[in-house]
Amino acid sequence: MRCPEVEPGRRSGGLRWRFWVLALIVSLGVAPALRANPPSLIAGMPAETAFLLGQRMYREGLAPSGEPMQSLVKGEAPILGTVFTCLSCHLRGGLGSIDGDVKTPPINGPKLYELQYWHFPNLTPTERIELGVRSIVRRPAYTDETLAKVLRTGIDPNGREQINVMPRYILADQEMAVLIAYLKVLSSEFSPGVTATDLRFAAVITDEVSPEDRAAMLAPLDNYVAYHNTLSGGFGNRMYKTSGGMAMTLGYRKLSLARWTLKGPPATWTRQLEAYQRKEPVFALLGGISYGSWQPIHAFCEAQQLPCLFPITGLPVISEKDWYTLYFSKGYYQEGQATARYLASQLDPSGDPEVVQIARDTPEGRALSDGFRETWSELGREPVRMVTLKKQVKITPDFLRKTFQPKSPSAVLLWTGADAYPALKAIAKGEGSKSAVYMSSSYLKKELWNLPESARAFTYFTYPYRHPNDEPKYAQFANSLIVGLKNTNNDSKIYTRSYTLIQLLRQALGDLDRNYYRDTLLDVVGGLNDLILPDYERLSFGPGQRYASKGCYIMQLSTGEKPELVKKSSWVIH
Ligand code: HEC
Repeated sequence: MRCPEVEPGRRSGGLRWRFWVLALIVSLGVAPALRANPPSLIAGMPAETAFLLGQRMYREGLAPSGEPMQSLVKGEAPILGTVFTCLSCHLRGGLGSIDGDVKTPPINGPKLYELQYWHFPNLTPTERIELGVRSIVRRPAYTDETLAKVLRTGIDPNGREQINVMPRYILADQEMAVLIAYLKVLSSEFSPGVTATDLRFAAVITDEVSPEDRAAMLAPLDNYVAYHNTLSGGFGNRMYKTSGGMAMTLGYRKLSLARWTLKGPPATWTRQLEAYQRKEPVFALLGGISYGSWQPIHAFCEAQQLPCLFPITGLPVISEKDWYTLYFSKGYYQEGQATARYLASQLDPSGDPEVVQIARDTPEGRALSDGFRETWSELGREPVRMVTLKKQVKITPDFLRKTFQPKSPSAVLLWTGADAYPALKAIAKGEGSKSAVYMSSSYLKKELWNLPESARAFTYFTYPYRHPNDEPKYAQFANSLIVGLKNTNNDSKIYTRSYTLIQLLRQALGDLDRNYYRDTLLDVVGGLNDLILPDYERLSFGPGQRYASKGCYIMQLSTGEKPELVKKSSWVIH
């Protein structure tokens, strides 16, 4: 079908388009589906070019020339299309969003070019009849002409004027053709890992992870998959009208969870992941666990455009722009950040307070000190003294005492394990105790509780979870999904986090309403409201955010044989 917005046979722009392709290929990468068999929708322009230019219009608000698109909101001065892009409102997958009273409709190809109903728009005509659902038409199917008209004038095919939230766009014919061609391919085919009957997932596990920790991550997921697969696909019409019923009936697919176990050095993981993905592609990665950096798996997911939901890792990739991995938090890095925020609220810069960071030369030590340093500088503070401890160097009382000379610093950040305790005990008697010492509870793990009594008064911990006394009433929800799990000790907070992942996934699968597109899965999970869940005080994402928990407590240990954690801060938010 020829797009009527384009002058037929016009070829003179070919060179210019080719220039843009080069520029774009460098910056964007090409959707794998398009490499295979590109349909050409625009005369004189290769499909790949049109796709990348259209994607940039949609996501960044830039016209093919590279200039910002021009948009108009009725009664106001023209605004640049880069202020709000199509993506800001219709989301990356194009299936729309709901914000208060404003419902932003789907604008992916299959929806635009089909007649839409007010009620249960996602049902097919046959299902509508079977289920006896009311079928009042919201609008007829768009054509290229009516679509161009609505984008320029706000008048839809019913002759109705759209609400002002949706801007009107000033677009030349060829620009319009590029945008429309993009909308046509946007979320037009289900993603890999989705079949008519199945949704396939995998969990990545790296070799060093203990059998107990693997089991704690997998048991809730396996139990949920087994439970889901006992449900039947046909619960009848009344069930469909509830969100739970919807997940069970028409959106229903059997779930499977493969294990993608990675062996050997991280440099070889990409190849192993690619082999798993080739053998049996999955819709998304669920959970997963590694004690080391998540970076290689994160990079694989970005490259493959594969969602990865909530891996168990303290060492996520810290990025403002990556899209495909959703993390519970920034891990160790975030504890460093929380320390910077807390200290900035405690130490008056006019008193010229001295802060010293002592960090083990390990991924954890580096993430903690980076998080502190970067946030401290964002807060406008002067750089602090930094001491890096090689792995084999012992922390002796003498070593620590030296840090406290010639005068005790206001704060010493000790990003090490419990091997620092004897030295802390030794300095507790002398000058050292005038400084506040900060340590990471995640780095210390169970050793947290063994801090010598004499060091408790001046030692503080970052604690990125809810207070342990408040936790049981939230963690108990997870019990229904740990049947068969032998070791339910929850210090590691692994099975409770798997439980949280399941709650988010199951709500997302219902909300997806059969729109099985990877980008839409991420749009939906990213848009979930705050839920009451174990471990974290709050989990939520702002637009584009990738780290759900932004909080951390600063705690101290109480005195006595069975110490408790005492909150010294509120849930410090980043
Ligand atoms: C600030 C939010 C916002 C932005 C930015 C935005 N839209 Fe919309 N869009 C809406 C809302 C809200 C509606 C529903 C308007 C109505 O029905 O009255 C809508 C409706 C539409 C429709 C009509 C859908 C239908 O079923 O009739 C199309 C097509 C559309 N937008 C395309 C786009 C494109 C393409 C862009 C970017 C170039 C864009 N929108 C940018 C909010 C937005």
